[in-house]
Amino acid sequence: MREIFANVRVMKKLDAKDGSCFPMGAGDDGIETSWVHFQNRRLFLRPLNPEDMQALLEFFYSHDAETVRLRYGYHRDTMTREAAAKLVSVDQNKDHALGIFADPYGHAELRAIGRYYLDAGGKSAEVAFVVHEANRHAGIAGFLLGELATVAKRRGVLEFWASVMPENRAMAGLFIAAGGVESTSDVTVEREFRIPVDSILKSRKKFLERKGIFRIKQ
Ligand SMILES: CC(C)(COP(=O)(O)OP(=O)(O)OC[C@H]1O[C@@H](n2cnc3c(N)ncnc32)[C@H](O)[C@@H]1OP(=O)(O)O)[C@@H](O)C(=O)NCCC(=O)NCCS
Repeated sequence: MREIFANVRVMKKLDAKDGSCFPMGAGDDGIETSWVHFQNRRLFLRPLNPEDMQALLEFFYSHDAETVRLRYGYHRDTMTREAAAKLVSVDQNKDHALGIFADPYGHAELRAIGRYYLDAGGKSAEVAFVVHEANRHAGIAGFLLGELATVAKRRGVLEFWASVMPENRAMAGLFIAAGGVESTSDVTVEREFRIPVDSILKSRKKFLERKGIFRIKQ
């Protein structure tokens, strides 16, 4: 638990250089925090921390039933505060969880989450994403995949994988577009995709250019 809290960025209300609540640039962990431009809209990128429990609950209750089913793999009506706290209290030195926020000033409003869970052995990790229905097809998940890959590469992780419901064309499409391959034999249950971290990084620049995504320098 100490590790988790040690990794929470110092939140200085309105005293960072640009007036936001969060210092820009790389933290002690080398993880970048910044505004990012997505299709005429700027959103804020930063790692999740335990303070985000309420934001995560609100994000969960803003999803439609299909988003919840595809993300969690089953129909889920509720999320307890304990479950939400667990999802934001990530040991960012091992796993990695990034949030995309509408506004870091005052009330934190999540628009997307991308995370990876390191496997035992430390060379591969499972990834998971959820992007708000209103923010889809803007390249947000693809951007987050690249951010996760950048950190993973630095930490010696070689491969990402995801277990995808058979009807989840978007998640399968995301993996295939970034160079992933399907390693499933029985497609009636869940499809498994694997992708080398290097493949993601190789196609990243082009993906960002094609989608017009860039970090806004402060
Ligand atoms: C899967 C999900 C995260 C994709 O988010 P997104 O931000 O809309 O995805 P992006 O805009 O970054 O798309 C990147 C690439 O993924 C693929 N993709 C995205 N949506 C797709 C769709 N509906 N069908 C096929 N491919 C799709 C495309 O190749 C796309 O590149 P392109 O737009 O240049 O063709 C989003 O649909 C979501 O949150 N779904 C519900 C939760 C979920 O299924 N999570 C995954 C299981 S953990």
